Amino acid sequence: MSALYDDVSEIMIPKERLDEICTQLGEKISEDYKDKKLILVGIMKGGLIFLSDLLRKITIPVEFGTVTASSYGQGTSSSGQVKILQDLDMEIRDKDIIIVEDLIDTGHTLKYLKEFFALRGPNSVKICCMLDKPSRREKQVQVDYIGMEIPDKFVVGYGMDFNEKYRNLADVCVLKEELYK
Ligand code: IMP
Ligand code: MG
Repeated sequence: MSALYDDVSEIMIPKERLDEICTQLGEKISEDYKDKKLILVGIMKGGLIFLSDLLRKITIPVEFGTVTASSYGQGTSSSGQVKILQDLDMEIRDKDIIIVEDLIDTGHTLKYLKEFFALRGPNSVKICCMLDKPSRREKQVQVDYIGMEIPDKFVVGYGMDFNEKYRNLADVCVLKEELYK
């Protein structure tokens, strides 16, 4: 294993399991949206890997866009203040959009983004998250598609970072506590 894995205390979700989850979500979304004008909106940067995997498991016509949002700054907990660093470059009026995100934690980011997109007149806005930490929720947000619930541990890999590192780990991993405590 690479040196990156030296900073990891546990592989929480191996890449094979992540692939199975994407297959199941892709099948469900393909069925649910077969007569709709589907656009996946990936939240950068954390949602990048999940977006690209999910896109390739969808078997109906689909477009995608990205939005770069930040709610973190540096560290391991949300600031609660969401900033749009780069907006979507496409029209979503009358389209059916699914926001694709790596992880829902306090819920601040997705609550803000759902309202942000709803103002542009889409036909519908739903949310698909690979991971859910329900024990940490502060804002109620309906997540329509969930890959997996996880306990309250800080995870990296599969797009998720700690201070911009570890996004390239293929598995969802728990970071050694001494690296951020
Ligand atoms: P929320 O606004 O607290 O729901 O924060 C969600 C955002 O924080 C997501 O976009 C994640 O990228 C990030 N996040 C939350 N928990 C973790 C974690 O354990 N590891 C890495 N990023 C996380
Ligand atoms: Mg994120």
